[in-house]
Amino acid sequence: MAIVYLNGDYVEASQARVSVDDRGFLFADGIYEVTPAYGGRFFLMDRHIDRMLRGLCALRIDADTSGLTEVHERLLVENGLTSEPISIVYIQITRGVAPRTHAFPATPVPPTVYAYAKAFHRPDPARWGAGFEAITVPDRRWARVDVKTIALLPNVLAQQAAVDAGVDDALFVRDGIALEGAHNNFFAVFGETLVTHPLTNVVLPGITRGLVIELARESGIAVEVRPIQVEDLVRADEAFFTGTTTEVRPTVRLDGRDIGDGRVGPVTRRLFDALLERVERHASGG
Ligand code: PDD
Repeated sequence: MAIVYLNGDYVEASQARVSVDDRGFLFADGIYEVTPAYGGRFFLMDRHIDRMLRGLCALRIDADTSGLTEVHERLLVENGLTSEPISIVYIQITRGVAPRTHAFPATPVPPTVYAYAKAFHRPDPARWGAGFEAITVPDRRWARVDVKTIALLPNVLAQQAAVDAGVDDALFVRDGIALEGAHNNFFAVFGETLVTHPLTNVVLPGITRGLVIELARESGIAVEVRPIQVEDLVRADEAFFTGTTTEVRPTVRLDGRDIGDGRVGPVTRRLFDALLERVERHASGG
């Protein structure tokens, strides 16, 4: 029986109700965040909260965010997840409930705040070691995907295209540039150098992306932050996606063609190992 948080209360998921006049439902007028906990301890929570505050600011949603850390903690407790190896908390804040008008409600209304927690399971080492497949899809999203809004229809369609193609991930391409996945950031390895798109309005500033860049630099791996031409991926040695629910996921085939030798490469493996070491240290209190 899952317990969720809704507007100040902890209730059974089946009992939680949001109005049909909620602007999240009518306009996708809101933002969300997904934060991982390892061994019941939230990981890089300040970075997730910071991104959420920037999103609220960009959308001009005036929400009281002072108790959100406690909401995260309590959801783990309520759902018996404090010893779970990996869990995630999803939180969504919309502009609130008001009769439908495109402009903001003339009289401000309280934002709707909804959150849930659940266990997350990493693929087993054999599955991870075999590598994953992706397809490219045209990026038809709006011009502010750096804001983590709940308006995710192009991402939904992209991920479904991947499912329909029998593969794991969808890579957004715009103007010949490989940007990011439907729900994760993208990296390629050329020779010894790790490359990923710069933080602009066309990619989400992924927390895992930032961590992986830090881990690469700490391990002496050269990092270039620059656009990747999709046509150059034919000569990439390795590629992978990163994200809270992706961690580091190796892509060994793109659009039916092998990346490098079609096997998980050493740079991807090193970075995944570094990530595992970091989160395991975090889980055990380090
Ligand atoms: N997705 N790019 C997009 C479009 C994303 O939706 C996400 C996260 C990322 C990776 O960000 P992070 O490393 O901070 O998780 C990149 C979340 C997990 C989701 O939609 O469920």
